[in-house]
Amino acid sequence: MARINVTVDGIRYADDVSPRTLLVHYLRDQLGKVGTVVGCDTSNCGACTVLMTDRDGPARAVKSCSVLAVQADPDATAKPCRSSSLTIASPST
Ligand code: FES
Repeated sequence: MARINVTVDGIRYADDVSPRTLLVHYLRDQLGKVGTVVGCDTSNCGACTVLMTDRDGPARAVKSCSVLAVQADPDATAKPCRSSSLTIASPST
């Protein structure tokens, strides 16, 4: 398990996730953000796209089915218990 600290839709979360958990599954299954949908199994449709912002750059659209949840927290592997300023905006439910 890895500890991640993220902000989703303005709410801060600190959760333990498996290192293999995809961001889309973390958002849907752990946070209940079911507006983030899985539309394919090939990373082609874009239905799972979320906006991800880290402290060093502008928001960027990412396919949450091709990003690990631990990648949403840049400090997750280096310093598992530190907070980050990462913000994720998921689609409205
Ligand atoms: S679910 Fe199709 S690109 Fe992510």
